[in-house]
Amino acid sequence: MKFSININHVATLRNARGEVQPDPVTYALMAEQYGVDGIVVHLREDRRHINDRDVKLLREVITTKLDLEMAAEPEIITIACETQPELATLVPEKREELTTEGGLNVLDNIERLKDTIAELHNRNIPVSLFIEPDVDQIDASLDIGADVIEIHTGTYANAATEEDMLEELERIKVAARHAKRIGLGVNAGHGLNYNNMKEFISVEDVDEVSIGQSVIARSIFVGVEQAIKEMLALVNAK
Ligand code: PXP
Repeated sequence: MKFSININHVATLRNARGEVQPDPVTYALMAEQYGVDGIVVHLREDRRHINDRDVKLLREVITTKLDLEMAAEPEIITIACETQPELATLVPEKREELTTEGGLNVLDNIERLKDTIAELHNRNIPVSLFIEPDVDQIDASLDIGADVIEIHTGTYANAATEEDMLEELERIKVAARHAKRIGLGVNAGHGLNYNNMKEFISVEDVDEVSIGQSVIARSIFVGVEQAIKEMLALVNAK
């Protein structure tokens, strides 16, 4: 399993005072130095954390890979085409694009997502869709040309009981196996942390996890190096 760090919340902290520190680009370079496999940022339409300058600079300086998360909106897609990330991950920003739990509802947005994927493919950018661990959503993702899915792990992360957690983990295992079998790359993320990763590594068909909040938060207490290396150890434990 690989580990990409989502650095949105370094920018959230920076933007809280309209200053330049902490700089997410600096964090990205440090994280690469300590061994992460990639950098993830979400360029939102409202620019609430990551901004255009961050994306531009990251593209210039990082040496692993850039996963640019975005809504399927023309302005952001144009920026993605110019930026040429190694992966474009389409995520919902509007409520009507959501399934019940938070992933994209591919089945209800087939035409728009298909066109967006085609536009990104025209620029040779592989596309991932952030979806629920649901076989119908996975099959629809393949049908419209996605290269990768990112399984939304929020329900697993927020499970109220051990029983609910294990049930959701099983759902994720089945979904990941299915996606792999039909030829999709499989990423996963949202809410993964130092506790729930211990069990999550039993999901064999996930290529890569995308983790932000828990690692950024821990960086404040123990420093970037230790926070990254502790998570890397967990991700590589199996
Ligand atoms: N994957 C996607 C698609 C996301 O939008 C996010 C951030 O919300 C993450 C992964 C990382 O989630 P977290 O910050 O909870 O680790």
